[in-house]
Amino acid sequence: MTTPKLVTANKFTTFNKNTAYVIPVTKKSDKLVIGANGIETSELTQIDLQSIGASAEFESLVRLPAPNGATYALVGVGTKSLNKDDLRNLGAAVSRKLASFKDVVFGFETSNADETAAILEGAALGTYVHNAYKGLTKGAEIKLQTVTVISAHKPTPASLNQIAVIAESVNLTRNLVNMPGRDLFPESLAKAVQNAAKGSGVTVQIWAEDRLTKEGLGGILGVGQGSSRGPRLVKLEYKPKVGKKHLALVGKGITFDTGGLSLKPSISMLGMNFDMTGAASVAAATIAIAKLQLPIKVTAWLCIAENMPSSTAQRPNDVIKARNGMTIEVLNTDAEGRLVLADGLSLASEAKPDYIVDVATLTGAVQIALGNQYAGLMGDQAAVDAVKAAAEEVGEMVWQLPLDKKLRGLIDSDIADIANVKMGNTAGGTIIGGLFLNEFVGNRAKGESDNIKWAHLDIAATAHNEGAAYGVIPKGATGSHVRTLVALAKQLG
Ligand code: BES
Ligand code: ZN
Ligand code: ZN
Repeated sequence: MTTPKLVTANKFTTFNKNTAYVIPVTKKSDKLVIGANGIETSELTQIDLQSIGASAEFESLVRLPAPNGATYALVGVGTKSLNKDDLRNLGAAVSRKLASFKDVVFGFETSNADETAAILEGAALGTYVHNAYKGLTKGAEIKLQTVTVISAHKPTPASLNQIAVIAESVNLTRNLVNMPGRDLFPESLAKAVQNAAKGSGVTVQIWAEDRLTKEGLGGILGVGQGSSRGPRLVKLEYKPKVGKKHLALVGKGITFDTGGLSLKPSISMLGMNFDMTGAASVAAATIAIAKLQLPIKVTAWLCIAENMPSSTAQRPNDVIKARNGMTIEVLNTDAEGRLVLADGLSLASEAKPDYIVDVATLTGAVQIALGNQYAGLMGDQAAVDAVKAAAEEVGEMVWQLPLDKKLRGLIDSDIADIANVKMGNTAGGTIIGGLFLNEFVGNRAKGESDNIKWAHLDIAATAHNEGAAYGVIPKGATGSHVRTLVALAKQLG
């Protein structure tokens, strides 16, 4: 599905059929009033807004007929001034509610180009629905072709292009993540990424099992060995003409996580097709970064496998060897994300990038700790600060958890260098996941220091929205944090 065309106009000209004109409703001394807008609304002054159910409540919406077969959409904007995040969310929610129109025109008087851009960005991000699998029944539909903001404050064409490129990347992530495991498996995910990267300036390498063996990627092979659909590693590279910094991204790409022989209970298995969100997100962000020609080198490593129980599956107590030579005792085959990332982080470290950010639906514990709107963020403080700043810039939510080194002893192994879990321990699960990953960055396993600044984003709770759509977040795959990664590349470049 494509995002609507984003347009700005200096002034209102005429009412058009099949078009909704968005008019702000606010309150002045306890009375509902039409807010400042650039649309012809003289006939609305006769109307008692209260009696038609209009409200100043943020994002409330009431429709009224307008001239020439057009529609007024009276939208509540509250009584306080709206910041960029509010405008983005409003642009999204209103466009989604009006998605049965061909055109939507916002008559809001924005006070600078960033505010205008925020409404348009919201419209592009908020008008996504997952209806690819509807058959005889009709799913939600988006008919919207154009969203216009009438304002004297216009974003530059480059800024509008950037919004469109990023929204397409977010939607690419959502499309991949929403696919059932039947259709999306390691080989098909790798191919889908390769297709999406065409023409972007990103080079793509796909490593199948023989290459994984040759490269010593015991984590990815171990997790993938139970599935008839073998694992893959995908390496994406974007090398700009200018730019000295190097950012490496690593993504967890489990196309379905049954838990393996440490099988998940049926209820916990639902939604585990989303377990490749990290890989899809870092791929989509890399493609957007390349399309925008940001001046920073980016290498992305997608660690892709299907975690299945079978006679060829890895067993609890198996010992595998990761790319960096570290041996891992697999006590729980359901803690598989850290096993594939062990290889990805080792590989990413070899080029000694300035920053490594890994993105993974790693632990159910992060939902218990932080709820459904914040991603867990851990790692080296400089990288954590950079990711925090980028997330703030784009209105995505992250929360730092302490990588408390005292917990590291919990995953000592009697027989290998490290264990992937401490059985029976549920405390601090997200932090323990982070401590495990830390061992595969640079030379840390050997106790040596390195110059890599590493951050880990645990997106297990934010990858997927089980409730109704809100703001820029649709139902299902959210595509959250792709925009953070692009903003990070922009800030570091
Ligand atoms: N893919 C899951 C994490 C997950 C849980 C993502 C819920 C989204 C929603 C991961 O592979 C997993 O199973 N983690 C275990 C770790 C445990 C065995 C230490 C978990 O969270 O239970
Ligand atoms: Zn798992
Ligand atoms: Zn998993």
